[in-house]
Amino acid sequence: MSAVKNYIDQNKNRFLEELISLLKLPSVSADKTYQNDVLMTAEAVKNYIEKAGCKKVEICETPGYPIVFGEHIIDANLPTILVYGHYDVQPADPIDLWDSPPFEPVIKKTELHPDGAIYARGSCDDKGQMYMHVKAFEIMMNLNTLPCNVKFMIEGEEEIGSPSLEWFVKRNEEKLSNDVILISDTGMISNQQPSITTGLRGLSYVEVEVTGPNRDLHSGLYGGAVANPINILTKMIASLHDENNHITIPGFYDKVIDATQEERTEMAKAPFSLDAYKKALDIEEVYGETGYTTNERNSIRPTLDVNGIWGGYTGEGAKTVIASKAYAKISMRLVPDQDPDEITKLFSDHFLSIAPKAVKVKVTPHHGGHPYVTPIDNIGYQAANKAYTETFGVPAIPQRSGGSIPIVALFEKELKSKTILMGFGLDSDAIHSPNEHFGVFNYLKGIETIPLFYKNYVELHQNQ
Ligand code: BES
Ligand code: MN
Ligand code: MN
Repeated sequence: MSAVKNYIDQNKNRFLEELISLLKLPSVSADKTYQNDVLMTAEAVKNYIEKAGCKKVEICETPGYPIVFGEHIIDANLPTILVYGHYDVQPADPIDLWDSPPFEPVIKKTELHPDGAIYARGSCDDKGQMYMHVKAFEIMMNLNTLPCNVKFMIEGEEEIGSPSLEWFVKRNEEKLSNDVILISDTGMISNQQPSITTGLRGLSYVEVEVTGPNRDLHSGLYGGAVANPINILTKMIASLHDENNHITIPGFYDKVIDATQEERTEMAKAPFSLDAYKKALDIEEVYGETGYTTNERNSIRPTLDVNGIWGGYTGEGAKTVIASKAYAKISMRLVPDQDPDEITKLFSDHFLSIAPKAVKVKVTPHHGGHPYVTPIDNIGYQAANKAYTETFGVPAIPQRSGGSIPIVALFEKELKSKTILMGFGLDSDAIHSPNEHFGVFNYLKGIETIPLFYKNYVELHQNQ
């Protein structure tokens, strides 16, 4: 058994307990009620990184939640790996749908996780995956095998669009300087088939408000004679897709770089069962843009989705009313080379233009992020692939993901570094959903694989 494996074997209970202690802190960045918990989580993360042996760890204030920054420089001539992760989590709602309380972690066995999975908000996204890096670092420190310099940058606002990160990165370019950025905040194909995420979608997120009459009205006395904002809003939203599920916003696809037939053929080789996919979601049929496969629709194609819609009476029983206002939150996932600001503008112009005169429409942009694709002919990718091959016994498959981590494109722009996305979660781990979980196997396998990335990266870097 390798020394790393041996170390993990002897410390795995403690590794799990430490993660569980972090998962008990409800660090929900979106909800101010949890402000104190978010701040306490930053402290806890700082303490754990320190305890793992990192020489200098600090809590850096930002206009929003602080960033935990750690630095362990062993030799200025050696390369530096910057580890990014986030300690904030998504809100746990709807709480009723959780089988166990979201901030009281429990380990349960499942079909896909026969060694057990930790059930808690943030277990996979991203506390569990972030903490793998802290434990991998501890192992390299204690076994005296750390081959290079390390920086940790763990933020607390990822789930709300990283509003302070650009501010922080622009002011700290020197402090953050690195040779490669390493992130575990994505997924892999299965526990038998690792994959490396080579692309992320961008994001444009807007909120819309449709106002009709100046007050709620009796739907009998006024119904039929004035515009009902909910009727209008739903009609406007429905018109945003045509019969082929193409998005109808003029100019929306103008900057989309179409994948080549070769890339699409390569993509189609990744193991995927449409039947298993449908079964896991309890759906009769998949649904999406004509001319593309399921995996293409959720990774290389842009989308538009309503994330929430409200207005009028939603309480018990019936109330006959025409509401004064209706609202929706809409996200658009973007692919290279779509620009989030441009798309937000295109959306806004179009949405206002299709509104009938009988209503007033307001569009408010929320956060955005640029899409990202990375080539696989760099040493970071090769180091990761070699690491996976050693611990999983098979090479990793490059795969573009549908999710977004806006910081990745920003890092490339500001710090000129490539990011390697070594994710260990599974799509079925229910991130952002009730009953989020993270496999014990995945957690420990991540901890085992990361030190090999370091070793391979430094070797490849020296031979460059
Ligand atoms: N870790 C996820 C992103 C992710 C998950 C990428 C799985 C690829 C595979 C991240 O925490 C996240 O949820 N990002 C948000 C974007 C953000 C701006 C709120 C997202 O994708 O919705
Ligand atoms: Mn995440
Ligand atoms: Mn997330």
